[in-house]
Amino acid sequence: MAKDSAKKIAYHKHTLTLADPPRHDDLYIVSFPKSGATWMDFLFAHINTRMSDDDKAVNFFNIHTIIPDIHHCRQIGASKQVFPGFRVIKSHAPFNPFYNNVIYVIRDPKDVMVSYYKFLVGLGQFSGTISDLIRSSRYGIDSWINHVGSWYLKSPASLRIYFMRYEDLISDAFSTLGALYRQLGFEIPSHILNEAIEKSSFDNMKRLENEWNYGGRPVADGFTFMRKGVAGGWTSDLSNDDRTYIDNACNSLLQKFGYIR
Ligand code: A3P
Repeated sequence: MAKDSAKKIAYHKHTLTLADPPRHDDLYIVSFPKSGATWMDFLFAHINTRMSDDDKAVNFFNIHTIIPDIHHCRQIGASKQVFPGFRVIKSHAPFNPFYNNVIYVIRDPKDVMVSYYKFLVGLGQFSGTISDLIRSSRYGIDSWINHVGSWYLKSPASLRIYFMRYEDLISDAFSTLGALYRQLGFEIPSHILNEAIEKSSFDNMKRLENEWNYGGRPVADGFTFMRKGVAGGWTSDLSNDDRTYIDNACNSLLQKFGYIR
């Protein structure tokens, strides 16, 4: 009996993916994989350390000590930065009724599918074609629809959720980030925003990725996490058939987030 209930608790914790111990003011950066969450983590890490007068460098070695990832760090302590006064935690969880404050990073699913495919193949975790991935229930467009839909359609009134498009960060990171922090109640000085954007540029993060070397973990030759970092790159990777398949599968979400008219 005792064994059973211990099992249940472990399962419960796993499925809920909550910070341990959770706090009512935790802010979660949530996304479907490959939507640009790591970029957001770096931007937040730079702004929050700078606003805390902490001049620590931000890199792939220490990013999870500044913005803990719920899937990697089960015990998440108090934030080491005084700003913003609450913890900022990265998560890929689908809708979770215990998350009170969420920034949901969304990206055109056609770019997400291409990025996910190259990522999984590079790590040796998927061996089919990109068309297979798009149609797979685990990684493909149905999984994206369930994830985005779970946050967009289920959101109760008590949840503070802010949807942020990867494409808006690409086209105007300064305004997009400034607006996001304003939603959280903070006006970030321009020089701090600019510095965070510069230090988290694609090229700078790629340089940091090279220094990191995946902590020695094996990856396929030529694999890079910082792959292309563009909006609309899918045009050179998807067939007409795959593009139409995606557009038809999630037409209303694509319209809602401005990806098709
Ligand atoms: P691509 O594979 O299309 O290049 P996530 O962090 O959610 O896994 O998302 C990874 C995607 O975000 C990758 O997309 C990666 O290149 C992109 N990305 C990461 N940092 C970025 C940056 N500073 N600028 C633009 N794109 C970035």
